Amino acid sequence: MIDDLWYKNGVIYCLSVGTYLDANGDGVGDFKGLLRRLDYLHGLGITAIWLMPFQPSPGKDDGYDISDHYGVDPRYGTLGDFVEFTHGCKQRGIRVIIDLVVNHTSDQHSWFKDARSSNDSAHRDWYVWSDTRPANANTGMVFPGVQKSTWTRDKEAGAWFFHRFYDFQPDLNTSNPHVQAEILKIMGFWIQLGVSGFRMDAVPFVIATKGAKVRKPVEQYDMLRSFREFLQWRQGDAIILAEANVLPETDMEYFGRDGDRMHMMFNFQVNQYLFYALASTDTRPLAKALAATKPRPATAQWGLFLRNHDELDLGRLTKPQRQAVFKAFGPDKNMQLYDRGIRRRLAPMLGGDRRRLELAYSLMCTLPGTPVIRYGDEIAMGDNLDLPERNCARTPMQWSTEPHAGFTEDDKAGSRVIDKGPYGYEHVNVAKQRRDPNSMLNWTERIIRMRKEVPEVGWGDFKVIAARDPAVLVIRYDWRNNSVLFVHNMHEQPREVSFATGLPGETGRLLVNLLSEDHSHADKRDRHTLMLEGYGYRWYRVGGLDYLFKRSDIDIDASGKAGHPA
Ligand code: GLC
Repeated sequence: MIDDLWYKNGVIYCLSVGTYLDANGDGVGDFKGLLRRLDYLHGLGITAIWLMPFQPSPGKDDGYDISDHYGVDPRYGTLGDFVEFTHGCKQRGIRVIIDLVVNHTSDQHSWFKDARSSNDSAHRDWYVWSDTRPANANTGMVFPGVQKSTWTRDKEAGAWFFHRFYDFQPDLNTSNPHVQAEILKIMGFWIQLGVSGFRMDAVPFVIATKGAKVRKPVEQYDMLRSFREFLQWRQGDAIILAEANVLPETDMEYFGRDGDRMHMMFNFQVNQYLFYALASTDTRPLAKALAATKPRPATAQWGLFLRNHDELDLGRLTKPQRQAVFKAFGPDKNMQLYDRGIRRRLAPMLGGDRRRLELAYSLMCTLPGTPVIRYGDEIAMGDNLDLPERNCARTPMQWSTEPHAGFTEDDKAGSRVIDKGPYGYEHVNVAKQRRDPNSMLNWTERIIRMRKEVPEVGWGDFKVIAARDPAVLVIRYDWRNNSVLFVHNMHEQPREVSFATGLPGETGRLLVNLLSEDHSHADKRDRHTLMLEGYGYRWYRVGGLDYLFKRSDIDIDASGKAGHPA
């Protein structure tokens, strides 16, 4: 297969325009500010930006309550500013994907205003109504503890409307062909303005059947194919990255058996077991999660992440596993959220321990998929647990020791910047770390560069190699006659491990360390023995540095035959 699927081997960086840089001094980040910061992102080496919602919105769910899908919220700028931004990205070779929030709208959206105005309005059937309170109104809440029900009575409409999320986010009736056509139109609009695709919000809910009589929602997977088909015709290299926290057995329904549905999905399964491995030092459930999420079409890719803008959802773990992660990374009630997750940022979760941060990032960059970094994690930003719900981890980027962290010059707005404690902007900021060769920022830049030099991770087939120590994960990738191998020690104590690469002949006998000088030569029995420091990690190229001369032009499977690794 030709290797021009850009999303298979890049590094995605997620940010929201409102928290990045405020150029016009009103206390809120804007597109002009973001445009001026593109050189920073270019320098960091990321290949794509995932831009969170920026459309007009009452802002009650950080922009995920959109009131006009075809505009830019005036606080952030204009459509003109947006196009300057996408153009600026293009000039620097950075792709932009934006959130596509079409499971619901804000209740201030003109469609909903029209829908509620009368029973026979043009948009009535764009939403999901019931004349009486449905029997299941107090089930299926996404935000338990905060959200009381999934059906709310609207006085003006004289009826109940369905909302999977907060009560100001009425669900769109996505089975309605008019709504489906509108979703395509929205995609077509933003594609025209320079984006390379979408992070599709809440996909399982978008495609689920909805209604007062629906007891068990059924996913209408065909819808995914129609989104993809439309996108591919409009712009061949545009993608959809699905937010779908689903069980591994349904992954293929989302990717499509013929690779005809979603291009990418976030790997929630691996995410949760990765945190479990970090908390418990037991990598076996993580290895199982990797195996369970292995089947995917050759054109599909996982988005590998540690933290995002939501809570770290631990809902798929068993109760004891979840308790172990809570205990290690979020012991206080105030750090937990929605009975299932942790709302903190990565650095405070890991106690600000640089060794653990590097270990976690190294794993994110070397597990199967494309890494997705959350803004601020590259400098180990902290959180502000005084802010409600998920807002604690959505504070402005910390650029410098200037007032308000160099984020804004507006004196009234500074309070949202973290200015107290060890994660305050005077200690943690880009300007300081830029000058320090050993900073987290410079480490992250190096690891991104190295990640780009191991396309085997993005494209290849992988194998978890037995190391006989559950605290250590050894994984090998093969692609086009080349192999790379990664070793991670979850334990705080040093570990000695011994393993064979599993490759025949001379090749597997030499492991060239990509990050330091300590290379490994196999013993007579073809085994490598490594001494790993606590939380240690290694990136190796198998065989030697003449690998580019050995790389084949086509994919060759283990038996030496042409073919793409499954
Ligand atoms: C997704 C978003 C989350 C938002 C919700 C409703 O889960 O990640 O932030 O609140 O959708 O749109």
